[in-house]
Amino acid sequence: MNEGPYEVPPDAVALGERVNLRLPNEMDRDAFCRLVLASGEHLRRWVLDPAALDDPNGTRWFDSILGANATGRSQKLLVHRIRDRELLGTMNVNEIVRGAFQSASLGYWIGAAHARRGYMSDALAAVLRYVFEAERLHRVEANIQPGNEASIALVRAAGFRQEGYSPRYLKVTGAWRDHERWALTVEDWRDGDAQARHGP
Ligand SMILES: CC(C)(COP(=O)(O)OP(=O)(O)OC[C@H]1O[C@@H](n2cnc3c(N)ncnc32)[C@H](O)[C@@H]1OP(=O)(O)O)[C@@H](O)C(=O)NCCC(=O)NCCS
Repeated sequence: MNEGPYEVPPDAVALGERVNLRLPNEMDRDAFCRLVLASGEHLRRWVLDPAALDDPNGTRWFDSILGANATGRSQKLLVHRIRDRELLGTMNVNEIVRGAFQSASLGYWIGAAHARRGYMSDALAAVLRYVFEAERLHRVEANIQPGNEASIALVRAAGFRQEGYSPRYLKVTGAWRDHERWALTVEDWRDGDAQARHGP
């Protein structure tokens, strides 16, 4: 669904049909904290960031995002709706490794009020174009708890394949949780893109 045309934000690093992705700055702090506060239960079960757990309004979480981006090893991006510039969620390109690996790990969440409207599918398509074309990565992965149906549906629809299963892979909300490892290489992404355009 295209809601455009809209003015393209000058600082966007990636553009979807209805959302844009950009790096956060201090001016985003209030909107970020409001979104976290309004989304507590929706995020609590699945979101990794330990700072969030005893940080109900997300202030320290926001600090950790700015800190991680400053290292250059992550690009934690904010997802805004283009139509009205509303902050919807985040799309994080984590653990960027260059050299022979050219890989990164994706993490994402959307505010409770905005879920199930296709925004994250749009954001994921946009970030994939960004990492594969602009950043020239070769592979991205997403580690997802087996019961997280929304997240699995999201990456599956984008062409990720399940590569493996990692017992007690990440500490989420205080315990080591099993995760499925889903990944997409640039070759599979290009093939999927070509199929979407021309049919199988
Ligand atoms: C996972 C998440 C980011 C998806 O965002 P979203 O904007 O709701 O996703 P979309 O509306 O683009 O939907 C993507 C797919 O997931 C499916 N989906 C969305 N919510 C779902 C749910 N609660 N249960 C089952 N499927 C769901 C949609 O039907 C769609 O599938 P389709 O393309 O086959 O139709 C969101 O649910 C979220 O923030 N969850 C909490 C945080 C989280 O789990 N982060 C990921 C950790 S690995």
